[in-house]
Formats: sequence, structure tokens, C-alpha cells
Amino acid sequence: MATIAPPSSRVAPAVTWDVQEGVAVVVLDLTGQPVNVISRAVKDEFLACFAALADDSRVQTVAFFSGKPENFIAGADIEEFVQLESAAEAERLSAGGQEMLDRVARFSKPIAVGIHGACLGGGFEFALACHYRVATDHPKTQIGLPEVQLGILPGAGGCQRLPRLAGARAALDMILAGKSERAAKAFRLGMVDELVPQPILREVTIAAAKRMAGGWRPKRKRPGGFIGFLLDGNPLGRRIVFRTARKQVLERTGGHFPAPLAALEAVEYGLKHGIDEGLKREAQLFGQLAVTDVSRKLVQIFFATNQLKKDPGVANAPPPVRVQRLGIVGSGFMGSGIAGTAVVQAEVDVRMKDADVARVAQGILAARAILDDRLKRRRITKYEYARLVALLSGGDNYAGFGRAELTIEAVFEDLGVKQQVLREIEPVLPSDGVFASNTSTIPITRIAEAAQAPERVIGMHFFSPVAKMPLLEVIPGARTEPQTVSTAVAFGRRMGKTVIVVRDSPGFWVNRILAPYGNEIGHLLAEGASIEEIDSLAVRFGFPVGPVTLLDEVGLDVAVKVAGVMQEAYGDHIIPPSNGAGVAALVKAGRLGRKSGRGFYIYKGGKKRGVDPSVYELLGVHPNGGPRPAEILQRLVLPMVNEAARAVGEGVVHNPRDGDIGAIFGFGFPPFRGGPLRYADDLGAERIVTDLERLAERHGARFAPADLLREQAHDGTKFYA
Ligand code: 3HC
Ligand code: NAI
Repeated sequence: MATIAPPSSRVAPAVTWDVQEGVAVVVLDLTGQPVNVISRAVKDEFLACFAALADDSRVQTVAFFSGKPENFIAGADIEEFVQLESAAEAERLSAGGQEMLDRVARFSKPIAVGIHGACLGGGFEFALACHYRVATDHPKTQIGLPEVQLGILPGAGGCQRLPRLAGARAALDMILAGKSERAAKAFRLGMVDELVPQPILREVTIAAAKRMAGGWRPKRKRPGGFIGFLLDGNPLGRRIVFRTARKQVLERTGGHFPAPLAALEAVEYGLKHGIDEGLKREAQLFGQLAVTDVSRKLVQIFFATNQLKKDPGVANAPPPVRVQRLGIVGSGFMGSGIAGTAVVQAEVDVRMKDADVARVAQGILAARAILDDRLKRRRITKYEYARLVALLSGGDNYAGFGRAELTIEAVFEDLGVKQQVLREIEPVLPSDGVFASNTSTIPITRIAEAAQAPERVIGMHFFSPVAKMPLLEVIPGARTEPQTVSTAVAFGRRMGKTVIVVRDSPGFWVNRILAPYGNEIGHLLAEGASIEEIDSLAVRFGFPVGPVTLLDEVGLDVAVKVAGVMQEAYGDHIIPPSNGAGVAALVKAGRLGRKSGRGFYIYKGGKKRGVDPSVYELLGVHPNGGPRPAEILQRLVLPMVNEAARAVGEGVVHNPRDGDIGAIFGFGFPPFRGGPLRYADDLGAERIVTDLERLAERHGARFAPADLLREQAHDGTKFYA
């Protein structure tokens, strides 16, 4: 077996190969690393390997594989971007990658690549430069260009090669959203040439390499038929495609994320001016993007999320109990969402219980809708669907709960009801079974007072809709034991959630920092601001929806309940306006938000249709211009930052990283700002304290700066060292 002498920093070479019957079988395997990435060092090995293969007269053709059992190549090494100091340096990095892949594309001997597992970013760009792509049909085989999610663009030729292979529309779809696709879809889109079961990947790839050595070349026709020809195949059609794509990007990003627009430009420029010019433009744009603050923030989020995946959430915890059977009490909105998501993501047996069989049946149907959606979007096959549906069952009693390692309750938000459920179920559960509550406001320690074994009671606060919201707050009570925490954290992760462990305190983390934000709406409306203005200013700041729309989404009845708890707990600074009737008046009038078709806004056919003007009357307020836009925005955002600081000071989250990830994944704090705590660091505590003091002077104690911010302002410290 041939190898390249590794750079001194690595113990073993990453690229090795074997020559048999004219085929060089090349394997990339970064020893000691969980995934293959393309770093500068790996690039050097690649180049040396291909130089050796070019000179080796025994080699007629090449078959390339990953040595990792579950990953192909995860892309370029993101750690290297963090160290880039200038746009010029980043441009050189991109151009270097392009040059290497250009050599691959022009290599004198054909190269077939066998893909199993994640084939992303630079990994896919490498595959695109090869001459034939075989992929396994395994669900782990995900193919995509996620660069824009890191604030950059595919900078190793991806913006040039993919549109040429699969057409501009399919390429833009993938590049601009940073999407990954299962191999079957990539195959349908013409991005891979052959789809095979994993056991025959090697054989089929080597066979393709041999066929190419004999002069055979794949005949590819542009996917998409006549429409494909009209839109992708001629400049006029492409103009329409680009115009539409640009409009969609602006709608989706509000102009806050420069990467998708730059990627669009790189694709368009390349198709207009040819691949060489396109590559140059791509590298330039990559260089500019890689050193933007937005990209730095998005990369920080990537690493923070990865760290969280490995964080057991508690010190010195015994390994988690592996959950195979999940019990759910309360098969309403949240219970069914948790059930469906648990089945789809963790493939566990789920047993549901509600007051009567009719409600359970409804819950099972709602859980099944999550599976239906996956099937419709071809995320699962018919066979997987049939297998997963069979995992859902339920009844009006606790039969089956005796074998559930974890039970989650999602009954009404009432301490008495939750404690009653706990008393009933504890004798039924296995002796080491964990009981988790999905309460949004009740202290876990209070619920656990009804337990014989409070050490196995915990909070698992999911967000709605459960299938879509990526965050889970895990809340240990005063007596919860570490293994209960690690079990809840591990199961939350298996459900695909990013999990933060949060102290048992009113509002936990997410609702806590949302409380002053929501509360300020009442004050602003009372001072004459309009609903649309409040929402549009928040959207312009980068929130996915404005705070008033958020209330409608959460449900005004739920919001009123949470607000009541928060005002009780933090009455010194969560102070509602004294004039105006408040949101309770809307609830009384049957306006519960989106779910009832009417809240602050009117909803028809599932779509938001504008503000219901009679809302102002019900609230007893009159829009008349209100405070200046800059003040409105400041009064929405700074109290949230202030509350986040206060909660950090109280140890509600373990560290600023968890706090920022919680805010970004819990309610969409603008990711390009890095989260409320990073944002605070960027503004500087001194400035925040000055602004809050000014607001407090004008509007009262609710704006008084948190002690921690005052300390930071005084000492010149930050949340992140
Ligand atoms: N660069 C550097 N490190 C990477 C990496 C990358 N591209 N991809 C993964 N890693 C690291 C992770 O940080 C983690 O490190 P740690 O163990 O020290 O914390 C480790 O590899 C394992 O990663 P995961 O825990 O995420 O492993 P999973 O099996 O859950 O997921 C994955 C694997 C789907 C490949 C996922 O890691 C992933 O999505 N990676 C990022 C993919 C990506 O964004 N690629 C584009 C890179 S940019 C690029 O290619 C630019 C080019 O166009 C020039
Ligand atoms: P829901 O009203 O849709 O569902 C509650 C279900 O519990 C109903 O089906 C009811 O019949 C059942 N139930 C009540 N008492 C029961 C008992 N003793 N035994 C068995 N079943 C019983 O309510 P939803 O919205 O699903 O909320 C459930 C829990 O989740 C609450 O604690 C709520 O605070 C929490 N939560 C709600 C969120 C939301 O957005 N709706 C978000 C996060 C948490």
C-alpha cells in the first residue's frame, strides 16, 4: 500500500492507496478524527497522491473512497477559516482549493468516487470534480453544500460545477439554502450518477472506474425535460431563474445574510463569463465573506452546537439510561408532537395516555401527521413509515408504562393535575424510570414534591411545534439526580434537539428572556405605536417574526399565563402598563392567536392576513405614531439583553454559550448577531448600561440595568472572555 509522508503534525497519513488490476483504490481517512475534512495538509497529500498516480504506469483509473464508516467528507476544515485574517488570505485559500480540484477534474486518468455518509461542502465539490459519482441509498448519505449556513459560499468550484451538472435551478436550490439532500434526491437531480445499496458501493465504483478506463463515458442529459431546457438551458430562461431566486433570498434573509446573494452572483457570473472567470469571482467573493462578522458568528454557532452535542449537561453523571420505550401522558398538542418526533427521530416505542380513548386516538393521529409529513417530503420511505407508525400506541390507562424508561407528561398546565398524574404513575413506572414534565411555567421542584422518588423527576421543556423547533430545555429540580439529567439530555439529543440544561427558576431561560420583550409590547401600544411597526422593526433587526406575531403563534392564552407567572416572580422589573386592558381582553374575546384564526392578526387559510383593527379598541389603545422607531427597537431588545444578563448572573444557564444557543434556537434571536450575550459583548456593557439608565429615567424601573452589566461596565469585562 502506498502512502504519502504525513506532515509532522499528524501521526499517520490521511491518503493511502492500493493498485490492483490497473485500478488505484484511494482511501481518505484522517486518523484520530471523527470526520474527514479537507485541510491545507490534506490538500497537500491529495496533490502528492495524484502526482504519484499520474506517474504510476500501473494505474489506468482511480476509485476513491472514505475510510470512515459513516462519513465521506464533511467539507473544508472550518477551523482554518477561523484563523483567516484578511479577505486576500481567504481568497487564496479558496483559489488553492479550486486549483487542486481543477487538477482532479483534468486528471489524465478517470476517477470514480464512492460516497457513503455525509458528503458536504468541499467534500461534495471534490466529488463534483471527479468523473463519476456513485452514492449509497443509506439515510446517512447526505449530499449538499451547507456553506451559506456558515456565512460563506462553496468556494472550491461548487458554484460553477453544480449548475453545469444539474442545471441552475437545482444548483441554486441547494446552494442558496445550504441544504443537504438524501442521495436518492441527489440522484434524481442528476448530482450523482448511480445509487446503490451500501454493501456493493466499492464493487460498483471500481467497475465504473474500469469502464471509464476502457473509454466509456457516462451520458448525462440535463434533468427537468423541456421546462428544464427553457429555464436552465438558455440565457433568457436563466435570467428569470436568477431574478426569482434573488427575490426569494431577499425575502428569506431580509438582506441580513450576505452569503446567499454572493453565491447567486458567483453562479450567475460563471454561467455568463465561463468557468475560469466564474472561479475567479467565486474565490473573490469567498474571500470577502469569510472575514465578515456574520460568518464569524455563524461559525461560532456551529462550534457551540457541536460542543453542546457532547456536553452531558451535568458534571460526574453516570451514563444515561438508554430509552427504548417512551411513555407520554397527555396526548394533546404538545404530547402528540413529542410522540411523533420521538418516533421519527429516536425510533422508540411510544405509549400515550389521555383521559379517554377518543383523545388518545386524536393524539395518535396528530403524531402520525408528523410521519405523514416526512413521507410526503420523502424523508422516509413507505417501508420506514409503516415500521414507525407501528411504534405508536396508546390508551386511557397506564398499560405499557411499566416498561418505559422515560415518561413525559404534557397534561394541562396546572400544578394539582401534574402532581396527581405523578402520584398515579409512580407506582406503575419501572423502579429506575424517569418522569419528565413538559411544564412551561411550574417549578419542577414543586411538581416533584408529590413524588416518592424526586431524584427521578425532571423538566423537559419542548417548544411548539415540537417537530420543527430545535431546542429543548432540560430542568433538574432541587433533588434530581445526575443520571436523570444525563438520561433526559441524551434522549433529547436522540430526538434531534439541541439541549441546554437550565436552572429551575420561573420561565427557565427562554421564557425568562422573552418576558420583558413581550411585556414591552403593552407599553409601546399604550404609547401609540402600531402593531405592524413593532413587528416590522423587530424583523428588520433580524428576528424571524416580530414579537406581536410571536405572541399569536404561541397562543395568547398561553402567553397570558406565562406573563402572569413572570410578573409574579419578577414584579420589580416585569411591570405591565397600568393603562390599557392587556392581552387578557383579547383572550376573553376568544382571540387566542393563530390557532383560533384571530389574535392580534387575522388568519385565513393558514395565512396571516393583517392586523385586526378592532384589537386596538379591545386593548383600549390608539395607534398615533408612538415613540420613534429607534426607541421602539431599543426598548424591545435592550430589556431582553438585560434580562439575559440578570439570568446569567443568577446561574440560570451554565455559560453564555448555552444562553446564546438557547435564544437562537428557542425563538430565533438573529443568529448573525451571535445571540443576546454576544450581541451585548459587541455593544459593550458600558453603552448598554448608559442606554438602560436613560430609558429607566424616562420610563421607570423596568429598565434598571442588571448588576452583572454594571459590573462589566465597571471592570471592562465581557460575557465571553
Ligand atoms: N471542519 C472542521 N471540523 C468539522 C467539520 C468541518 N467541515 N465538520 C465536522 N467537524 C468536526 C466537528 O466540529 C466535531 O468536532 P469535535 O468532535 O472536536 O467537536 C467533529 O467533526 C464531529 O462532528 P459532529 O459531532 O457534527 O458529527 P456528526 O456525525 O453529528 O455530523 C456532519 C457529521 C454531518 C459532517 C457534521 O459535522 C457537519 O454538518 N459538518 C459541517 C459540514 C459543513 O458545514 N461543511 C462545509 C464546510 S465549508 C466548505 O466546505 C467550504 C468549501 O466550499 C471551500
Ligand atoms: P393540550 O390542552 O393540547 O393538551 C393537554 C392534554 O392533556 C389534553 O389532551 C388533556 O385531555 C390531557 N390531560 C389532562 N389531564 C390529564 C390527566 N390527568 N391524564 C391524562 N391526560 C390528561 O395542552 P398543550 O398545549 O399540549 O400543553 C401541555 C403541556 O405542555 C402544558 O404543561 C403546557 O404548559 C406545556 N407546553 C405547552 C406549549 C405550547 O405551546 N402549547 C409549549 C411548551 C410547553
